[in-house]
Amino acid sequence: MKILILCTCIFLLSWTVEIHGEEQSKKNVVCYFASWTVYRNGNGKFDVPDIDVNLCTHINFGFIGLNEDASIHILDSWESDGLEGIKRLVELKKLKSDLKVLISMGGWNEGSRTYSIVAANATKRKILANNVLSFIEERGFDGFDLDWEYPGLRGGDQAIDKDDLTALLNDLSDVLKPKGYILSAAVAGAVEKINIAYDVPKITKILDLLNVMVFDYHGAFDNFVGHISPLYPAEIDYKYSDNSTYNVDSGIQEWLHKGADPEKMNIGIILYGRSFTLADKTNTALFAPVRGGGIEGIYSRQSGILGYNEICEFHSATTYVWDDEQKVPHRIWDDQWVGFDDEKSIKLKIEYALENNLGGAMVWSLDYDDFKGICGHKYPLLTAVNKAFGNL
Ligand SMILES: *[C@@H]1O[C@H](CO)[C@@H](O)[C@H](O)[C@H]1NC(C)=O
Ligand SMILES: *[C@@H]1O[C@H](CO)[C@@H](O)[C@H](O)[C@H]1NC(C)=O
Repeated sequence: MKILILCTCIFLLSWTVEIHGEEQSKKNVVCYFASWTVYRNGNGKFDVPDIDVNLCTHINFGFIGLNEDASIHILDSWESDGLEGIKRLVELKKLKSDLKVLISMGGWNEGSRTYSIVAANATKRKILANNVLSFIEERGFDGFDLDWEYPGLRGGDQAIDKDDLTALLNDLSDVLKPKGYILSAAVAGAVEKINIAYDVPKITKILDLLNVMVFDYHGAFDNFVGHISPLYPAEIDYKYSDNSTYNVDSGIQEWLHKGADPEKMNIGIILYGRSFTLADKTNTALFAPVRGGGIEGIYSRQSGILGYNEICEFHSATTYVWDDEQKVPHRIWDDQWVGFDDEKSIKLKIEYALENNLGGAMVWSLDYDDFKGICGHKYPLLTAVNKAFGNL
């Protein structure tokens, strides 16, 4: 009898350890939901029911905005409340009990100035922290993600923003942590921005997750061809001064070198490409001159941007080139050049994240994947992220 009980105990113990071990090894996959994609046409239209909760550990709703008096505003009240986008997103938790749904504030279009003003005033910081707490409590979110792009840049104040961000995150932490809410931030992946914007050791201590935006290194904002998110530099990058740091490896290593905790870091993975219209269609090399952004996509409707779904649905019969130095592909047709990520490059980036003991990945954004499976199985890229992590 005793032996039987002992055996049962050992069995239960090892079973519990095994389950616990599995949980620990699951890597974060933070998926951004971009609310404006509900207005896209045809196969590009993306809404909450298109989300596959099994492919994300966290979903961040992008975005809410900030006013100078530290109040919060819903950027798109028709999507968020009229169509109940926020309510339906939070309700996804019913499909998966350990799914975390966060509200994200900021983003590129919000700019930096308002954030700089609010963060500089101790009273406003506390008001904002309490407004955030009320917002997530009222609407049932699991946490808050700050996407200030970027402290000290784009209308921010370089002299004070770095320390003010630390102070703001401290105030947010003071109200959110005691209640068990998650505090995360989307942070820059370019070396010179990291230096201006962040006190890395301090913010790393406060934050639960750092979503590192190791992308948008090149695009229509340049006047030459380059990859949006190369894993490594190309030989030629060294000829053009700082371009040799415009890659994932340089960004991630800068964070690590400055003292970021790798387990809190999520490597940024883009599901869209950045495209160019070549000045001379016979010159398709890196740094080749361009006329501007590539033709706009049928769904994304922005010159210089193409979702992976648009690339695979409309341009899969074009010339595919694998750049073995930078470990990313591009496609060329007519005078068009688009750099992007596919299953092959994503697998290498996730392996890189594993080698560096990172906590997981952040994905921008769900709507750009082939979420309908027009070109094959659904969500090929997000599936590649999860597979390479061993989450599936
Ligand atoms: C800080 O914000 C508070 C509340 O809005 C305001 O009363 C105060 O004047 C501000 N302080 C400064 C120095 O701007
Ligand atoms: C990258 O190269 C381009 C093209 O020569 C140059 O204009 C730019 O200043 C370089 N960027 C950096 C950050 O060095």
